[in-house]
Amino acid sequence: MRKKLVVGNWKMHGNRASNAALLAGLREAGPWSADVAVCVPFPYIAETALALTGQAVLFGAQDCSAHEQGAYTGEVSSAMLADLGCRYVIVGHSERRAYHAENDQLVADKAKAALAHGVTPIVCVGETLAERDAGQTESVVKRQLAAVIHTLTHCIGEIVLAYEPVWAIGTGLTASPEQAQAVHAVLRKQLQAATQKADSMRILYGGSVKPDNAVQLFGMPDIDGGLIGGAALKAADFGAICRAAN
Ligand code: PGA
Repeated sequence: MRKKLVVGNWKMHGNRASNAALLAGLREAGPWSADVAVCVPFPYIAETALALTGQAVLFGAQDCSAHEQGAYTGEVSSAMLADLGCRYVIVGHSERRAYHAENDQLVADKAKAALAHGVTPIVCVGETLAERDAGQTESVVKRQLAAVIHTLTHCIGEIVLAYEPVWAIGTGLTASPEQAQAVHAVLRKQLQAATQKADSMRILYGGSVKPDNAVQLFGMPDIDGGLIGGAALKAADFGAICRAAN
């Protein structure tokens, strides 16, 4: 039995005051039986760590460098994230792939860098609407995952995978539980061919998850929780989604 995981992706939102209010709201909303984490903007990681002291909510970042250290202005290494106590880092989010030209290999290299420092990468895969319409959903997500499997080899069992159809992110369009499950099953099968740990690995769904659709999504056999964007910015909504994963 896989324990569910719900991760809030705050994206580039918030400030010190609103973060403090949100984290206080989460304190009120919990505890949950699922694992819960928030991935916050870099400048707020340390304060988030402090605010979550003694709580079950874990925290992490939304990206990391593929490099170990050095002359990479503006980059943040996974060693730095580990130093701050991050448990997770999102890599390969579709917004990074689209706006920062991150390709499959770079995403895989970032996942490897994170694992090297004990930070669990949450590796995102997902197809665009054009790709879905062209019948390419399976081939796209399999190609994205294959690069990570190839790069991590025997360590692939250590990642968290997130299926996020690009057309469902921030649009209010959600993949139906059946649509999402179908892709999760494909990904699980691909993991099974790569590692004996596949059945204990968590595959999250992301894309317009809300309190009113979370129960159905999380009820599917291969959906092990969610990666939550917009709804993670409201403590009541995020709390309800975490409850749905109980
Ligand atoms: P959304 O974002 O829940 O706002 O659709 C999900 C994500 O991008 O991780």
